[in-house]
This record gives sequence, C-alpha cells and structure tokens, in this order.
Amino acid sequence: MKHIRISGTGSALPARVLTNTELETFVDTSDRWIRERTGICQRHVAADDETTSSLATRAARAAIEAAGLQADDIDLLIIATTTPDMVFPSTACIVQNALGIADCIAFDMQAVCTGFVYGLATAERFMRGGGVRHALVIGAETFTRLLDWTDRGTCVLFGDGAGAVVLSQSDTPGLLSSHLHADGSQAGILCVPGAVRAGAIAPAPFVHMDGQSVFKIAVRVLDDVAREALAHNHLSVDQVDWFIPHQANTRILSSTARKLGIAESRVVVTVDRHGNTSAASIPLALDTAVRDGRIQSGQLLLLAAVGGGMTWGGALVRF
Ligand code: UT7
Repeated sequence: MKHIRISGTGSALPARVLTNTELETFVDTSDRWIRERTGICQRHVAADDETTSSLATRAARAAIEAAGLQADDIDLLIIATTTPDMVFPSTACIVQNALGIADCIAFDMQAVCTGFVYGLATAERFMRGGGVRHALVIGAETFTRLLDWTDRGTCVLFGDGAGAVVLSQSDTPGLLSSHLHADGSQAGILCVPGAVRAGAIAPAPFVHMDGQSVFKIAVRVLDDVAREALAHNHLSVDQVDWFIPHQANTRILSSTARKLGIAESRVVVTVDRHGNTSAASIPLALDTAVRDGRIQSGQLLLLAAVGGGMTWGGALVRF
C-alpha cells in the first residue's frame, strides 16, 4: 500500500499583536493572572479586512511552496474552521478560487479545536482510497470575532491565525495513523449557542465556556488519545521526538506531558505567543517548529487535539 507523508507546511498570522498589558486597559484582568493561569503573553488579532480565507490562503501558499508543488497539483482541499467567512459557500471553495485551483474536492470541516486532526484523518482516508495524490489540510480561524470582550473568562484566551500542511502520496511511511472521537453529551460546556434566524444571530453570537470542566476533560482525553495512537503503532512515548498538542493553555500542556511521561522540552509550545487559535493551533505550532529547525526529517511527531463538541483526536507522523 502507498504511504502518505507531510510534504510541506506553512502558516500565517495577522500583523496585529494584542498583548496582555493592552487587554488590561479594557478588561478587568491582569498580565500576571493571564500568564499564571494560561501561559499566554500575547495573541494575534485579524484586521478588519483580514478573513479566515485570506489567512488560510497565505498559509496554503507557503505549504505548497515548501512541498515544491504548484497549486493545481492539489486534488483535495479541506479547511478546518469554526469561523468560516460566511454561512455558505464553504471557506474551502473561497480558498480554492484564491489559490487558482481549477478543480479539486473542497469542503470545510467542523470539529472546533480538533478540526485540523479531523481534517488530517479525513484526507488520509481519501488518499488511502486512491485518486488523491496531494491534499491540502488547513486549520484557519478568526476566532477573536466570536469573543465577548467584556467576558474575562474567555476573551483573554484566544487568537487568530492559520496553519497548513500538504499531504502527498509517498513510498515511505509518514502519517502512520489517526484516531478520532466525539462526545456530544458535553456540547454545552464549550459553544457559541447562536444560529442565524430572521436576520439575527440567536440566542448569542459569543463563546460560552465552563473553563474548569473543559480543563478536566482536555487533560484526560489528550492523554487517552496520545496513548491510543502509540499503542496502535506499537510505539512507546520514549520514541516520540516532538509532542504537538492543541495549544489551549500551558497548564493543560504541562499536565498532559506529565501524565504521558514526556519531557516538557519535547513539547512544542506556541500558546504563549499565539494564544489558543482553535483549529489553527496544531498546524501553526508544527510549521513554527519546522521552520525554526527543531523538527527534522525522519523524526516521530505525536499530535493530539481536543475541542468543543467535545471532540478529540490524535495522529502519529514520521516527518
Ligand atoms: O480549546 C479549548 C478551549 N478551552 C480551554 O482551554 C479552557 C480550559 N480552562 C482553563 O484554561 C481555565 O479553566 C481558565 C484559564 C479558563 C480559567 O482558569 P481557572 O483556574 O479555572 O479559573 P476560574 O475560572 O476558577 O476562576 C478563578 C478566579 C475567579 O475569581 P474568584 O471567583 O475566585 O474571585 C475568576 O473570576 O479567577 C477569576 N478570573 C480572572 N481574573 C483575572 C477568571 N478569568 C480571569 C481573568 N483575569 N481573565
């Protein structure tokens, strides 16, 4: 059977940086509280004329170039996002057009912060079925547009950005396996409980979160799915070169690393600079560590994500 590998990565961040100190000027919070409870120092915020699709397009171009391909080589384009440009058409179709791809399969994936891993797993299954040689999987968000800037329990946590990978058919193993889960009984603890109705969003267009419940579930399921991926491939945590979890909060990352028994020096952390960028966080962290030279060809990467739904998923990748 043919293998699938990551042939290129890319990312994009808005130029505008919002620091904790600036947040202090309009929300009842402090730089100290945010750093101690979340590890976040700053986040990027999209400008008025930036959209999920414009960030996704920039990340995609960088990933396609890194893969040494042309946009027209892409057979499948999946965008994981919770903040699509519009209700329809899909953001994937908007990005397909911006990239100048004449024809490919294009659709959006909604699994909130687990969306990128869901997209990776979906692309993997398309590719194993044959017919798709190169797939573009993007996580892209303008998540700050869902925030109530007076709710200090949520508005300090999130940021905007996009990350992308190109998956290509290969003779050598790359994407070893992917594992997906969901538990819809927990939908209410992390949601935007609004729908378009009679020209308005009802009942509310903002993120609602029970932070402590999300925290507890996150630490449990990130550990579970990481172990599931390792066991499936008969690998041990000692063999993992880099753990790239969803970048929610450094306390969640540290607790998960401790539970798994992986040294914190092998965890890729970008939440301090990016905040939580939902579906974009894993591909943004991956591209950051590829471009700064930490991640090298042949290394074993363990990805694990958790998000609203609740959803969670993991993947093991030989880079
Ligand atoms: O992709 C998944 C997305 N979700 C997450 O990652 C969230 C997971 N949960 C968490 O990371 C944490 O639950 C939070 C960082 C959201 C909150 O931390 P916590 O330690 O669970 O704090 P808490 O909600 O128990 O609040 C403790 C105190 C409260 O004050 P009182 O009642 O003790 O006086 C809050 O009102 O901290 C207060 N507080 C704040 N203070 C300053 C809550 N948010 C803030 C804030 N600045 N931004």
